[in-house]
Amino acid sequence: MNAGILGVGKYVPEKVLTNQDLEEIVDTNDEWIRTRTGIEERRIADDHTDSSDMAYEAAVEALKHANIKAEELDMILVATVTPDHPFPSVSCMLQERLGAKKAAAMDVSAACAGFMYGVITAKQFIESNAYKYVLVVGTEKLSKVTDWNDRNTAVLFGDGAGAVVMGKVSEGRGILSFELGADGTGGKHLYQDEYIIMNGREVFKFAVRQMADSSVHVIEQAGLTKDDVDFLIPHQANIRIMEASRQRLALPEEKMAKTIRKYGNTSSASIPIAMAEELQAGKIKDDDVVVMVGFGGGLTWGAICMRWGR
Ligand code: UT7
Repeated sequence: MNAGILGVGKYVPEKVLTNQDLEEIVDTNDEWIRTRTGIEERRIADDHTDSSDMAYEAAVEALKHANIKAEELDMILVATVTPDHPFPSVSCMLQERLGAKKAAAMDVSAACAGFMYGVITAKQFIESNAYKYVLVVGTEKLSKVTDWNDRNTAVLFGDGAGAVVMGKVSEGRGILSFELGADGTGGKHLYQDEYIIMNGREVFKFAVRQMADSSVHVIEQAGLTKDDVDFLIPHQANIRIMEASRQRLALPEEKMAKTIRKYGNTSSASIPIAMAEELQAGKIKDDDVVVMVGFGGGLTWGAICMRWGR
């Protein structure tokens, strides 16, 4: 039996920062941001809310959805590049707050592909029978590492968290195939010094190729074809990158998760937030073939092909 997703949750801060608001902060405009990125607004966490706080809210929702108690968790994996502190890890902070006493806990650092790395790590522990239930969270407070004077990056990012509870699912369902990868030679194109620094064009070119290639690879590995895919959840970085993947899979528009308009790029949180939202909207149903694909700083990437359902 495969590892799969038992429950999903998300949290986004209340404060909305619109493109019009950004026009007051940097030399940009709503038209440019909308047409070049697909983003209209993003959420920004307040001074009292850090990555662990958002992770907690998303985790509570995922546990409730999975109908599993925190004490039953064997492991907590938190994907983040914006931890509250270098240590203790966000996962340890979360373990305490949830009261997940028996859970091992560690953070995963793979930037925007972090959630994919987390899910695939969880899968290994579950399918080897070492652990029964693993909580995987993507959480980011990117606003604290955003240079609000740099229009190349300030318009892109947002804060939020998404979480899944994973465990074994019924025969034929769950994770069917995956691909993880890294190319450290591209690290210079997207990194954090004090703030996020990015060569947008280089990352764009890499992302368009990688997102489409990895999606195709996992579909083939699962013994399926593009026609079998019911829903695509791409990392919500730029609508043009997402559209390139969708077109490569020849999927109609309504079969792709699209939360970028409201939340911008929330890095490791983007895929689980999109998953939670589209699931709630009834766009993902039991036995659907779902492809998730992400890329990020590192450079890193990951894709998963799964059959939805417990
Ligand atoms: O999770 C991974 C994170 N990173 C990404 O996913 C980023 C991937 N890259 C991208 O999404 C795109 O490259 C961007 C959205 C960052 C930029 O879009 P682009 O179409 O590649 O624009 P560009 O960098 O080629 O810039 C085009 C023009 C430039 O002006 P000139 O030189 O043609 O006069 C920029 O100065 O747009 C200008 N520009 C802006 N104008 C208004 C760049 N940023 C802005 C802005 N507002 N915010």
